[in-house]
Amino acid sequence: MKLATKDLLGMKELSAEEIRYILYQAEIMKHILLQDAKKTPHLQGRTVVTLFYENSTRTRLSFELASKYMSANAANITASGSSVQKGESLIDTAKTLDAMATDVIIIRHQMSGAPHLIAKNVNAAVINAGDGMNEHPTQALLDLLTMKEKKGQIEGLRVAIIGDVAHSRVARSNIYALQKLGAEVVVGGPSTLLPRDIATLGVEVYENVESALRGADVVMCLRLQKERQQNGLLPSMREYSKFFGVDEKRLALAKPDALIMHPGPVNRGVELTSGVMSLDRAVINEQVTNGVAVRMAVLNILAKRSGHYGNFN
Ligand code: CP
Repeated sequence: MKLATKDLLGMKELSAEEIRYILYQAEIMKHILLQDAKKTPHLQGRTVVTLFYENSTRTRLSFELASKYMSANAANITASGSSVQKGESLIDTAKTLDAMATDVIIIRHQMSGAPHLIAKNVNAAVINAGDGMNEHPTQALLDLLTMKEKKGQIEGLRVAIIGDVAHSRVARSNIYALQKLGAEVVVGGPSTLLPRDIATLGVEVYENVESALRGADVVMCLRLQKERQQNGLLPSMREYSKFFGVDEKRLALAKPDALIMHPGPVNRGVELTSGVMSLDRAVINEQVTNGVAVRMAVLNILAKRSGHYGNFN
């Protein structure tokens, strides 16, 4: 099976069948990842470049490791060390990478829609590694893989997404993907951090955490995005943790075996207490492992389809 487009820009654009196909491929890749010798020839001769205009630990490193485990030529550029600092535009930077016969460009950018703009202007496959407040599709895919592994299936799960939904590309990608696979999505958080039109996405909305947590199979806490807060949306981190942080008492409202997830990086003691993070059913590190498997799968699917080889249809 092929994806309908040469790029992975968002979960909104993928069909349920395409999502299931990527997850199936990721399960295969996870077997490779867990071997002692993590080296396959899948991407031999292909070139993968990460182009990050925002900070990252998990996403950037897991794409780099995934590329290397599959024998690709992997390189990375950050905005701070590149000709972006000399005034080069986003499109010109992307075209420069394309001119070097790069097969896959992985981009993180503070502007929603930046990957979509690049995708229209290059032959390479473009992967969205997080664009502003829009989408972070590979994060949603690794979250789905983790839920599927731990709960057997996505369909029928009640997933509570808690916290700073307004600024969260992770929330948006998960909402699209979970609903396509038949899960029920609930969001909860301070009213100032819930987008006014969020209910139009078909989710249940609560302006408190307790109602959102009740009966949840999965509790997904979001990072409080200090860098994207406008003045006045949030009184203080302390107040947030007091009224919206997930501690053992609030967690008891969810199902007893509810998974605890977080995309990372966690503001420990703010979104989640250390006690909750240390529970066996907190799967934050497993999410990180699955991030490598998912990115191996996505690269393997897309790298051979870039326009440089004339085999895209
Ligand atoms: N979850 C996530 O995107 O983490 P990084 O910012 O470390 O990549």
